[in-house]
Amino acid sequence: MKATAVANSNIALVKYWGKRDDKLILPQNGSISVALDGLSTTTTVEFGPHERDIFILDGRERTEEEAKRVFGQIDLIRERAGIGEKAKIVSENNFPTAAGLASSASGAAALVVAAAAAAGIGLDKKGLSVLARRGSGSACRSISGGFVEWLMGEREDGSDSYGKQIAKPEYWPDFRIITTVVSKTEKHVKSRAGMRQTVKTCPFYGCWLESIGSDLKAVRNGIAEKDIATVGSIAEMNALKMHALMWTTKPSIVYWMPETLKIIQNIVIWRKEGLDCYFTIDAGPQVKIICLKKEVKEIEAKLKECLGKVEISQHAPGGDARPINNHLF
Ligand code: PMV
Repeated sequence: MKATAVANSNIALVKYWGKRDDKLILPQNGSISVALDGLSTTTTVEFGPHERDIFILDGRERTEEEAKRVFGQIDLIRERAGIGEKAKIVSENNFPTAAGLASSASGAAALVVAAAAAAGIGLDKKGLSVLARRGSGSACRSISGGFVEWLMGEREDGSDSYGKQIAKPEYWPDFRIITTVVSKTEKHVKSRAGMRQTVKTCPFYGCWLESIGSDLKAVRNGIAEKDIATVGSIAEMNALKMHALMWTTKPSIVYWMPETLKIIQNIVIWRKEGLDCYFTIDAGPQVKIICLKKEVKEIEAKLKECLGKVEISQHAPGGDARPINNHLF
């Protein structure tokens, strides 16, 4: 009744921002991401004679309120497995939580894989992805590795809204995401509240939705052709469009910090100078750079030169979420 799983976080190249169903977490638009090797969550779940459900993240027991989403996912698994036992869940991220490095994605994916194994229910990748989605939308893209498309689906019950692998990590092993950590403080507006506000108040939301189909198509083709200029430039513009939505939401949501702008302005200059690099930014201040392996050294040197002591790391496309044998307790 105890199982452990590890899942990588993912970064969207075409973003998800807005739900059509808040409870089932069904998106307004499809999205495409890449799994990040080396940015992961490890989670152990045990169903047993515990007095109550317990959730410990990065060494600290979380309050009922903080653990609400996790316990919600555990309830779904219990229901599916027909078990009533309480759960002890211990989870560790190897990167800062809630700072725009998609800890909610790797967290909810690792949780579902571990909990399903601990409860003894066999689910395929689609079934796991549908359940991961209920914890955090972007988590449905962390069940499979490599490049993954979240199909928005049409059904009201959400059974066709899941992350589907479009290319394995080995298909494009030279693809890289360089992450920067410009700030470790937890973000002031959570994605869930922010996107709800955007759908309600942003005057440009309709334009965003209209532009998604062509972004998805271009990024799909770019991945199939291993064309970094297409994937990078479409992803960069898509991220800017999403942040334009955030800025023009009422009240406006601005995640950027001065260093965020400094990096993106420099990337545009470096690109003009011939360096093939592009940026993307999620709901936080961190900038992720999209490039190929051969450019990483030069980009990292330039980042250090322009920012001094910023934390950076490079990530190849990561693998599937999977059970492992080393339990956390
Ligand atoms: O799934 P959530 O609630 O963590 O929202 C993710 C939203 C973005 O990271 C900004 C975009 C995306 O597609 O990952």
